[in-house]
Formats: sequence, structure tokens, C-alpha cells
Amino acid sequence: MHKRLVVVSNRLPIAIFGDEIRGFEVRSGTGGLVTALKSTISQTKSAWIGWPGCGSEVPFKSLLLNYSKKANFELIPVQVTEEEILRYYRGFSNKSIWPLFHDLLGQFSFNPEDYETYRSVNKKFAGIIAENNRVDDTIWIHDYQLIFTGHYLRELGIKSRLNFFLHIPFPSFDLLRRFPRKIAMMEVLLDYDHIGFQTSVDKRNFISCLKWLVPEAKTVSKRQESIIHYANREILVGHYPISIDFNEFNNLAKTKETSDTAWFLKENINAETMVLGLDRLDYTKGIPERLRAFEKLLEKYPDVRGRISLMQVVVPSRLNIAEYQELKSELESLAGRINGRFSSGGWIPIHYQFRTLDRVQLVGYYKAADIALVTPLRDGMNLVSKEYCASSSNDRGVLILSEFAGSAEKLRKGAIIVNPYDIDLTADAIYAAFIMSVEEKEHRMKILRAEVRRNDVHRWVRRFFGEE
Ligand code: G6P
Repeated sequence: MHKRLVVVSNRLPIAIFGDEIRGFEVRSGTGGLVTALKSTISQTKSAWIGWPGCGSEVPFKSLLLNYSKKANFELIPVQVTEEEILRYYRGFSNKSIWPLFHDLLGQFSFNPEDYETYRSVNKKFAGIIAENNRVDDTIWIHDYQLIFTGHYLRELGIKSRLNFFLHIPFPSFDLLRRFPRKIAMMEVLLDYDHIGFQTSVDKRNFISCLKWLVPEAKTVSKRQESIIHYANREILVGHYPISIDFNEFNNLAKTKETSDTAWFLKENINAETMVLGLDRLDYTKGIPERLRAFEKLLEKYPDVRGRISLMQVVVPSRLNIAEYQELKSELESLAGRINGRFSSGGWIPIHYQFRTLDRVQLVGYYKAADIALVTPLRDGMNLVSKEYCASSSNDRGVLILSEFAGSAEKLRKGAIIVNPYDIDLTADAIYAAFIMSVEEKEHRMKILRAEVRRNDVHRWVRRFFGEE
């Protein structure tokens, strides 16, 4: 396929555990991207460039070198200082781009110093990529933390084909207008040769922002992909919805370990129907709205009390950012208030867990869930919705999905689609799933599973590189 693929992302696809006394250990990441690229990168002796997620007190260079030998691809660290993390990652990436691109203007702020640091860290990434560059490399840069990296690679004279994939949504022009450096951002994106978005809406938003902000760029659109003519170059723009490894989840769902986890959960929940919410701690995920919708269900449909429980798992994330800590407190008090109001006998309406799950536990939770409630306010794709379908190997699960998740573009036929801001109708949707006939559940889940099976993550890579 590729001569050598160089993947670049903010974080390397590993996590380093331990300390000097007990010793350090490098564990592989299980994120979507590394799953998607695992086979390609090890076959082509590729490289992955990114931040190791730790400071210089950890001997990450030698740890990564050892890990690279075993993994069959090279992990190249970009060292980022604490001050840079503060401004580049917590600041500009997660307080400016993240909320704005997720349509949440209320959380958006702009600090020019953070922006400058973001640019200098992107330049640092470009420097490391350039140092390791070979003529035939295919360079693939990922996500909103590295938008300017392609531009700095061009400044360094790198001629390789530069690919970029944005994992989060791209906002409409009306939102992007608020961003003080919007023209610079659009122009640097045009330094890439190929830009991929998650959905057709994101791609359309990007092209319409270009019309307003860089009018000299001319777009020729086809159905799936468009060509932008700019500065005597052609830039390919397409939408390629990221996915999961269907077989991995489907096979894991058939194992004894995941069945045991599911059985244990169901036994302890003490309700005939388990609804699952599973998200990284993030205000884009609509978790408070979801808890309120569950409360509304209990108010509006008293017959469900004692018979249905919500298992809400929140995976710790970005806890160094104030908004995330505030959200955590809000969720704890909401769950406590609703439980105080409705619990009776041995039944608790909301089981709230703030924790990470390993793969087996994750699939066990999916298997135990009669209903999955995936209701982000906005999401680039949302892989939980796809993982749930791939793990529902008995075809009985019901997916309730926000219309603002990227995955709704393809999953709308089999899911119950809701507007997460509409608490009342979301409560009605949970009730509809609760009373749904087995035949309808099976019919819907078969449609969903066929879609996720057909468009898995391996196809995503092939489609991005025009191999089908
Ligand atoms: C989203 C982003 C990723 C990011 C992940 C975890 O999925 O699109 O780029 O890596 O969240 O967030 P974190 O800030 O912990 O890397």
C-alpha cells in the first residue's frame, strides 16, 4: 500500500505507567486510530510521531525505543514542556478550537498567547517530522491539535504528500466567524494536499467557510470528493466516516469473559432493563441533559419505576481544565439528586461510575445494555454508538442516538434519533425503546450491524487513501 506511512497525532498511541521505584511500563493504546492503522504501520515499518504524555522526569526515549522494537513500528516522541501543554493543549486546543468546532460558543474563549504557543508547538512537531522524513513517505497528520503542522512542513521545504484528517466536526461559517484568526487557519489548511472530514456536513461547512474567507480558492465538487484549486495547487477534500474493527467487538462479545461481566452487571443492577450511557468526561457529550431526560422518563411514565436503570459510565478526561472539573461535580450532584428523589427498596434509578473500562469490561457493559443512550450535543463521529452495535451479537439492543453525532448520518435508519436538547422527547424515546417489541428490536439492530460491519475501520483507511 504505502512505502512508509508516518502518522502524526498529538498523543502517541501508548500510555506510560509506573514510577522510578516500581519501574515503568509502556502499554499500547486501544484508541480507534491505532486499531485502524495497526496492521498497515507494522507491515510497512512505519513511524508514529507524537507527545508521549509525560514530562522529562520519565525516561521515555529508552522506553519508546524498546517498545518500538517489539511493536514493529517506530514511536518518535515530541517533547512538550508543561508551559506548552498549558497553552497549546489545555488552552488553544481545548478552550478555543474544541468548543467552537462543537458548536458550543458559550464555552469558547480566545487567548492570543495560547494561539502563539499552539503555532510554535505545531512548528516543533513539523521539525521532528522533517528530521525523520524520507522522500517517499506518506505523511498523515491527525486532528485539531495539529492544524498548522502541514504549513510549517512546507516552510521547511518538505515536498511529501501531506494528508490531514479532522476527527472533530467542522463548524458552519456563522460559528467560525467568531474565531479571531479564521483566515490564517483556513489558509494553512490549504497547505495540505488532502483533507478528510468525518461527514458530508463537515465537508460542506469547510467549503462554505472557504468561499467567504479565501475567495481565491475555487472548488470543483463531485459527490464524494471535491478538488480545491488554490495557489497553482490542487487540494483533495473528502468525507470519510471513521469506524471501528467490527470483528474485534463482535468476536469479543461471544466470549465467556464478556458474558460473565454482562451477567454480573445485570445481577447487580436489580432492574429488568439496563440503559447504558458511556462517555469520556466532556461537556460535548450531553450527559447532564441525558440524566435529566432519564429523570423526566421516571416522572412521565411511573410504570417504569423499579424496572429500568441507567448505568452511566464516565471515563476521566482533561481533569486539568476547570470546565471538566465543574462538569464532574454537576454530574455527581445530578445523579445524587435524582437517586434521592426516586430510589426505593433495592432499586436505584442511576448507577454512576467514574472510571475507565478495559476492553473486556467495555464489551461486557455493551452486552448487558438493553438500550444504549448516546446523546452528545455534538460529536465528530462517536464510536460508542458503533461499538455498541458490533457488541450486540444477539441483535436485541436498541440504540438511541443524537442527531448531532457524526455517526447519525449512517446509523439513522436503525437507531431512534433524538435531539438531546429536547429532554421531553428523549424521555419518550427511552420509553419507546423500553416497550419495543422483540421483532422491531431485531429488525433495527440487524440494519445497524450490517452498516457497521460493511463500513469498518479498515475500509475507512482504504477509502481515505482512494483504494476503493
Ligand atoms: C477526541 C479527540 C482526540 C483526542 C481524544 C481524547 O476524540 O478528537 O484527538 O485524543 O478526544 O482527548 P485527549 O485530550 O485526552 O487527548
